[in-house]
Order: sequence, then C-alpha cells, then structure tokens
Amino acid sequence: MSPQTPRDGLILGVETSCDDTAAALVDAEGRVIASVVASQTEIHAEFGGVYPELASRAHVATIVPTIDKTLTSAGITGQDLRAIAVTRGPGLIGSLLVGLNTAAGLSIGWDVPVLGVNHLRGHLRSPELDGGEITYPALALLVSGGHTLLARMDASDKITVLGTTRDDSVGEAFDKVGRMLDLGYPGGPAVDRLAATGQPTIDLPRPMIRDGLDFSFSGLKTAVAHALAKGAAPADLASSFVEACFEVLMTKCRRALSQRPYRSLIIVGGVAASIPLRAQASDLCEEMGATLNLPPLKWATDNAAMIALTGWDYLDLANPPGTLPEVRLKVSEL
Ligand code: KG4
Ligand code: ZN
Repeated sequence: MSPQTPRDGLILGVETSCDDTAAALVDAEGRVIASVVASQTEIHAEFGGVYPELASRAHVATIVPTIDKTLTSAGITGQDLRAIAVTRGPGLIGSLLVGLNTAAGLSIGWDVPVLGVNHLRGHLRSPELDGGEITYPALALLVSGGHTLLARMDASDKITVLGTTRDDSVGEAFDKVGRMLDLGYPGGPAVDRLAATGQPTIDLPRPMIRDGLDFSFSGLKTAVAHALAKGAAPADLASSFVEACFEVLMTKCRRALSQRPYRSLIIVGGVAASIPLRAQASDLCEEMGATLNLPPLKWATDNAAMIALTGWDYLDLANPPGTLPEVRLKVSEL
C-alpha cells in the first residue's frame, strides 16, 4: 500500500465462501468493531455435510439482513465505509457469487470501492485480529476444511507456498471420520472432543511423514474405516486418528522450521480451533525457539473479520463501485 493511502475508517468484510453468511467491520489495526454470522449448521445437519445449492439459497436469504445488523450494531451507514472487502474464492461458486454480487451492488448504492479478497489470505491474517501480531518471517500452517498447506510469509502479502495436500485436507478427514463415527455435523469439532475421552491405542499410518512438506490424508481416512469395521472402540479410534494427524502436522512444521530461519509459527483455519493442536504447537515452538501466533479461537474458523482485515492490504487495488471482483478459485493465486 502506498504511504499516502489513508488507513482511516472501517472496512466491511463479507464472507460467503461456504456455509456461513458473515459480515464484520474492522479497522486498519485489526480491531473488530462488529461481527454478525448467520449459521447454516441446522440446514446441512440432515445431510451430514454442506449441500451446495441449499448453502447458496440460504446466503441469498440472509446476506442483506446480516450486513444490515452489522452496520446497525456499530451505529454507521454504508456511506461511512472506507471499502467493502468480499471473499472472491476459493470456495463454493454459488455461495461466492451471492457475496460478490451483493457487495458489488451495495458498492454502487453507497459509492464505496469493492475489494476482492482471497479466502486463504484472510485465514493467514487472522492471528492479527483483536490486537494479535505476526512476527515475520513466519511459517504458516493453514488447516481448514478445504485446504492444508505450509507457507513461508515474509510479510502479510509476501507468501510462498512450501507444501500442500496431495489429496484430502486435514479438516475434511476430520469431518469424514466424524461421519463414520456417527458424530453428526459438523464432524471435526466432535472428533476433537471424542478423542479427548479415549486412548490412542490403535495403530494408524502417518502418511508421508518422512517425505518433504506435502501432505496426504486419504489413506489415513481409509485406515480409520478399516479399524472401525474390525470393531475398534470409537473414542480410542478418534484419539488414535487425531494423534496421527497432529503428529504429521507437527513433524512437517518442525522440518520446515529447521530448513530456514523463522521468527514465528502461525496456525490458522478451522482445525486451529483444536486445543490439543494448539498445545502441541506451543511445545514445538518452545523446542524450536519460535514464537507461536494463533488467531483468537473465534477467528480460527471462517469469519468475515479476517476478510475485512485483509481488505486493508488490497486497498490500492480497489475496484470502482459496482465492479464485480474477479473470482479466484486456485491456491496458486494466493
Ligand atoms: O476454516 P474453516 O472454518 O473453513 C474452511 O475454510 O474450510 O475450517 C473448517 C474445518 C472443518 O473441516 C471442521 O471440521 C474443522 O475445520 N474444525 C475442527 C475443529 N473446529 C473446526 N477440526 C478439529 N478440531 C476442531 N476443534
Ligand atoms: Zn476457511
């Protein structure tokens, strides 16, 4: 951003990439002034996963009231905004288009610029919400429902991807194991909770643990299905699965931290809401002499505050009011 770009006022973040309709107001320092989320959990629960068409329809129904409530709770109107930042991808295309079109329409009505924000960049900024800080260079582990990746961050907008998953994301593996164990939707947090009540007594693979910085989780998922078919106790199976996942994640982080000097490790995305993962990351950072920068728990999973904060990085790239930001669906466009 050029030094003359004023960083005053508030950016409205709009996030509709998956199954939550979210809006938030954030200032340039990462203070969250307002945040409203319309959850779709009940809608998708009966299907055991996100039903994309229903997600899009629910976004259509809730997006305007969600934005309205966000502005009202802060006592401002749309014309007072510095800009609107909206998730442009990756995500479910029908869901993304609801947010993008709404943001583009409102930007005409309010005469404010609209910024298209990469959802993964949003997660990577989340440790800086509510007064947090990232010390660069940082090693970033992004563990969400859609992605698992390791990246080097030399600044909030200087990101080099070091490794990604060859198949499933770790969050997806959590969700599928939750479904196998009949834990309802969303499965990930339920697996995390059940694991705490069991013992990691079942031998499961640690895919690709000895090789490089890429990940693979589909074989582990299959191994869990086989163990369940052989009669493994659910709590012990959940505990063994979580132990295998986190051992792989921590081993890859340790490897990356040993390869280059880093001042900090950041872990973001929905799986970063797991308290045991946070504890293991804290031990690893102590061992490696790095600082651990985590998002506050409520900003680990999808939210609009991280999109609004990232919007400040994009201010110089603002689209004129009404322009639909280009949709970006690939990790390589980070
Ligand atoms: O970042 P996120 O909210 O959405 C995506 O961008 O995908 O991540 C959602 C993922 C889901 O797979 C969910 O099961 C997982 O994060 N998740 C958790 C926990 N909370 C959410 N996984 C493990 N333990 C948790 N406590
Ligand atoms: Zn996400």
